[in-house]
Amino acid sequence: MKKALILSGGQGTRLRPLTHTIAKQLVPVAGKPILGYVFDHICEAKIKKAGIIISPETGQDVKDYLRDGVPWNIKTRYIVQKKPLGLAHAVLAARSFLRDDNFVMYLGDNLLSSGVRTAIERFKKNKSDAMIFLKEVEDPRRFGVARLDSDGKVIELMEKPQDPPSNLALVGVYIFTKRIFDAIARIKPSKRGELEITDAIQELINMGYAVDSEILDGWWLDTGKKDDLLQANSIVLDEYIKNDIKGKIIDSRIMGRVTIEPGSIVTNSNIRGPVKIGKNSIIENTFIGSFTSIGNNVTIKHSAIEHSVILDNARIEGIERLEDSLIGRGAEVVKNAHQHTALRLMISDDSIVEV
Ligand code: TTP
Repeated sequence: MKKALILSGGQGTRLRPLTHTIAKQLVPVAGKPILGYVFDHICEAKIKKAGIIISPETGQDVKDYLRDGVPWNIKTRYIVQKKPLGLAHAVLAARSFLRDDNFVMYLGDNLLSSGVRTAIERFKKNKSDAMIFLKEVEDPRRFGVARLDSDGKVIELMEKPQDPPSNLALVGVYIFTKRIFDAIARIKPSKRGELEITDAIQELINMGYAVDSEILDGWWLDTGKKDDLLQANSIVLDEYIKNDIKGKIIDSRIMGRVTIEPGSIVTNSNIRGPVKIGKNSIIENTFIGSFTSIGNNVTIKHSAIEHSVILDNARIEGIERLEDSLIGRGAEVVKNAHQHTALRLMISDDSIVEV
């Protein structure tokens, strides 16, 4: 397999307000953009060429992060999708990059615990026309769901079924041959006005092509909403964070696995891992609890924070207890010095404040 198609466009409406100013795929999980994990997997599968679907709004940021794939030694081609008209529409937009080659398609906001290498090998051996990835989930009614025969061939796909035929949800990774273009040519936009990849795969089945499936054992995380993102952050911190303190620690206690990057200073504070702190951040008189990721140039003073993601340049001061929170770049959460208890807010569109 030579090529990957990575979808990094879309609107990310469910992750507003963060996605007003940042591409969803660049939101960091355990201090690293989600797209970085996707590229790690493509690299591990020894794929050397990637087409990246980008949107006119966030495309430049995606390009700045990927740096033409040089950090992964993957040749990248950026493909602008003018409007997010669906996953199958993105495949059409990439036609001149994909040509007639087989390819892996990866949604740029999905995180998987294991890569796609072994599945690609199976796909090559079985010579099927497409392969989808599935994961057993508790409530399949929220997902695209597959019905399989005893050999694992896909018989039917259903979008958010009331009465699911299995508990196998479709994951955001697929392997396609050029046949997918024949199928996409035969489908129409769905009710929400998008060309759906599930409809295209169903069309492949209707046309008599063989669609194989691979059931994932490890975790799969779709980072669409705040709580998904916090969960992804916890799982990835738990799995990957090592004890690695490059910052300065003064009169503080560090418990468990904690990574602190150079230039950060922790003074008179307690940190309980797994926790990741980026570069040049200042932590003073503070408790940082498990499953928290803190970005670069963040200031936190006289506060207690747990199970949260704090992005670059944010400032938190005098907050007794902050939990399950996602704080955007440059945002400030501070206790005011006045006697009366009124809140004073300046928050962006679509923000959520629970008091
Ligand atoms: P979705 O999560 O289905 O869509 P979205 O990113 O627009 O988010 P939301 O539902 O919150 O508005 O998209 C899955 C991935 O595919 C994501 O990485 C964005 C990307 N995508 C495209 O590149 N082009 C598209 O036309 C669509 C719909 C998504």
